[in-house]
Amino acid sequence: MTTLIEARDLRKRFGSTQAVDGVSLTVNAGEAYGLVGPDGAGKTTTMRLLIGALSCDSGSVIIGGHDLGKHAESARAMVGYLAQRFSLYVDLTVIENLRFFGEVRGVAGAPLDARAAELLHFVGLAGFETRLAGNLSGGMKQKLGLATALIHRPQVLLLDEPTAGVDPVTRQDFWQLIIRLLGSEGIAAIVSTPYMDEAARCNRLGFMYRGRILTHGSPRELTANMSGHVLELIAHPKDRARELCLADPDVEDALAFGDRLHLRVRQIEGVVSRLPSALSGGGVMVDRLRPIPATLEDAFISLLASSGKTQ
Ligand SMILES: Nc1ncnc2c1ncn2[C@@H]1O[C@H](COP(=O)(O)OP(=O)(O)OP(=O)(O)O)[C@@H](O)[C@H]1O
Ligand SMILES: [Mg+2]
Repeated sequence: MTTLIEARDLRKRFGSTQAVDGVSLTVNAGEAYGLVGPDGAGKTTTMRLLIGALSCDSGSVIIGGHDLGKHAESARAMVGYLAQRFSLYVDLTVIENLRFFGEVRGVAGAPLDARAAELLHFVGLAGFETRLAGNLSGGMKQKLGLATALIHRPQVLLLDEPTAGVDPVTRQDFWQLIIRLLGSEGIAAIVSTPYMDEAARCNRLGFMYRGRILTHGSPRELTANMSGHVLELIAHPKDRARELCLADPDVEDALAFGDRLHLRVRQIEGVVSRLPSALSGGGVMVDRLRPIPATLEDAFISLLASSGKTQ
């Protein structure tokens, strides 16, 4: 398997903030690595270090065999980057934006026109060439952003929260595009996302908090390694149910997921035998209480709690 991204022990400090604190990761061709973490975890800073937009205080980055510290140009040429606060030129059309980003990346003339047409077709924007970028919907802007990041045929793609604020249907479309790029072009991608359903699509994930990757693994490994068990509770009223659950000595936390609560419990039997009467005694109607497999969100919260880091 070809390793396309290799970061070793990256560190970056801004004043008193250790934004990245010893991050190591590798991503192979055809893989998507998800960076998941709360605001300020260090995801964007990590990406900026990986593309060389910021220099690291220590550590090394190797992109497709090129050491970013020694051969920055050849390493950067392999990377396509969609920044979190990426902006298109709103007063240029779709095709003008693509041409502009192509020229910045050293693609010009007929090869640029051919690549632009291919990408517009790929992202579903063929036919919108002459629309001003400022008049595109949010999802279309992100797709055009992805096309601009791909204009020079990078083997490595860094996408920083590419679907934040995009509607769910477009998020699905966007992920289909990423999956096709991994499969057909053997691209290695790092994608940061606040959405756990998107994280679950990645081959591997790193849970990031305060500059560190607390753990990484496949979505399946991360949920299987979670400490404790999860019970799903549907009960009304939900807030009162949550209060009563948290009073049980074996319930570590109770997270709301839509109309349900996920109870992270130390052991199942005791809780299942005690809770129904405690809830009904407290005026709560119980529709369902059953053990369920942990989700990534459960695993992440559990990891933060077991590191003593819940805020
Ligand atoms: N240029 C900078 N100068 C000073 N502090 C910075 C700078 N860039 C980032 N930071 C700080 O470094 C930490 C990590 O920020 P970063 O933007 O990497 O987090 P993030 O995980 O991308 O968060 P978000 O989900 O909000 O995008 C934060 O505490 C942030 O305030
Ligand atoms: Mg960020």
